[in-house]
Amino acid sequence: MALATLSTCFLLLASVSSAKLPAQAQFIDQRVFNVLNTTLPPSQFNATNVFIPPGSTEDSLTKQPFHVYDKEFLKILGNNPTLTRIARSAKNPLYHEAVVWSNRTNEVFFAQNAGPPAAGTGLNKSAIIEKISLAQVAAVSNRTDASGLVDVITVNATPPVLNANGATNFRGQIVYTSEGQGDHGAPALYLMNPEEPYNTTVLLNNFFGRQFNSLNDIVVHPQNKDIYFTDSLYGYLQDFRPAPGIQLQVYRFNPDTGAVTVAADGFTLPNGFTFSPDGKHAYATDTGINQGFWGYNFSRPASIYRYDVADDGTLENRKTFAFVNSGVPDVWNPHGKLIGKIYLGTTSANFNFVGNGKMVICAETSLYYATLAAGGNYVESEM
Ligand SMILES: *[C@@H]1O[C@H](CO)[C@@H](O)[C@H](O)[C@H]1NC(C)=O
Ligand SMILES: *[C@@H]1O[C@H](CO)[C@@H](O)[C@H](O)[C@H]1NC(C)=O
Ligand SMILES: *[C@@H]1O[C@H](CO)[C@@H](O)[C@H](O)[C@H]1NC(C)=O
Ligand SMILES: *[C@@H]1O[C@H](CO)[C@@H](O)[C@H](O)[C@H]1NC(C)=O
Ligand SMILES: *[C@@H]1O[C@H](CO)[C@@H](O)[C@H](O)[C@H]1NC(C)=O
Ligand SMILES: *[C@@H]1O[C@H](CO)[C@@H](O)[C@H](O)[C@H]1NC(C)=O
Ligand SMILES: *[C@@H]1O[C@H](CO)[C@@H](O)[C@H](O)[C@H]1NC(C)=O
Repeated sequence: MALATLSTCFLLLASVSSAKLPAQAQFIDQRVFNVLNTTLPPSQFNATNVFIPPGSTEDSLTKQPFHVYDKEFLKILGNNPTLTRIARSAKNPLYHEAVVWSNRTNEVFFAQNAGPPAAGTGLNKSAIIEKISLAQVAAVSNRTDASGLVDVITVNATPPVLNANGATNFRGQIVYTSEGQGDHGAPALYLMNPEEPYNTTVLLNNFFGRQFNSLNDIVVHPQNKDIYFTDSLYGYLQDFRPAPGIQLQVYRFNPDTGAVTVAADGFTLPNGFTFSPDGKHAYATDTGINQGFWGYNFSRPASIYRYDVADDGTLENRKTFAFVNSGVPDVWNPHGKLIGKIYLGTTSANFNFVGNGKMVICAETSLYYATLAAGGNYVESEM
């Protein structure tokens, strides 16, 4: 099951202006479905379903996958956005989370999911990190389906990162959150060398002796350079970690001093985390609606909260920023208005910018590459 559904779903920069609708895009007029002839009860239509507006079909939504809800989105897309499937697998969820670009090698790393029981992959595959070359991807980006043409290479991180879930660039290397595994595989932050031999070093594996529950997302603040990360419960809810031993919250870590402090709490299930490009705001998602083996609880959040980042790096003034209708990555403007979607017709747990105007999207059994006009967020590359 894809559990980290809302990581990093924000595009906050735009650089190109455009008035014409690109070939791969379509307008979605929300007035068309403000009033529906029939609305179904939650037992028949709920957050697990994809909403197909009247007049659209699954096919028409997929054929022009850039959905413009507000013309602001055109600036994000530019004149010729593209979406390419670059890899697929029959049922093994090879393309799950932790998309991160290594500027040094121009490669993109991501992690496999342990997967639902039906995938038959189980925890044996839960420490696998893979990579692709962006040069190879760029050569096929004019196609809609290029699966088979891009090499997906397994990276033998040593020691392995147990259930890698989030990743970001840090001091020229990649820092991962590990969800951990079992009673003794404690969740931890690992630093990985993005080049052979992909050696790793554990940076943090406890809070004053107490294990974390299952670390999820991670980001570095653009000014204070501290590492902020979320601790959620999905390891327990997916049956590979013990019951919670500490409150679910966001932490802040300074590896130079060793200081670990709480940055935010008050979540059902904290999940994704990021900063605005200028570092003045933080965004945290709460995916409490999806409670793993407990099922869905539709009265819980599928929300993004926004905080102000004070000069000392603490988070304040939490406000509800957005709420998603279902688990498909959407795009909001800085005021929390939905302006567009990139429609895959399937679940995506994670995407990330991989350089300006380029994005890699993990969708479990499919991996996508998109090009558009917008730039990404702050990425730390050098010391
Ligand atoms: C949500 O809707 C689907 C039908 O699309 C249904 O199968 C499922 O049981 C519903 N979930 C709940 C908890 O009612
Ligand atoms: C809703 O009902 C009206 C009147 O019967 C009909 O014209 C219209 O096509 C219906 N819309 C949809 C989406 O079924
Ligand atoms: C990596 O970053 C440097 C410095 O910001 C930049 O000059 C270089 O073009 C980047 N490399 C790639 C492959 O984009
Ligand atoms: C996982 O590995 C164990 C030990 O090698 C093996 O017994 C088991 O069948 C494997 N499970 C799957 C689903 O491959
Ligand atoms: C993509 O570009 C390549 C090389 O320029 C060309 O051979 C191929 O026909 C193009 N494919 C499509 C679908 O446009
Ligand atoms: C990898 O090994 C090299 C050489 O021993 C070392 O300098 C570097 O710090 C290591 N990196 C990590 C992330 O462990
Ligand atoms: C769903 O969440 C609500 C609000 O927290 C709670 O009262 C309710 O018991 C939960 N329902 C289930 C089925 O867990």
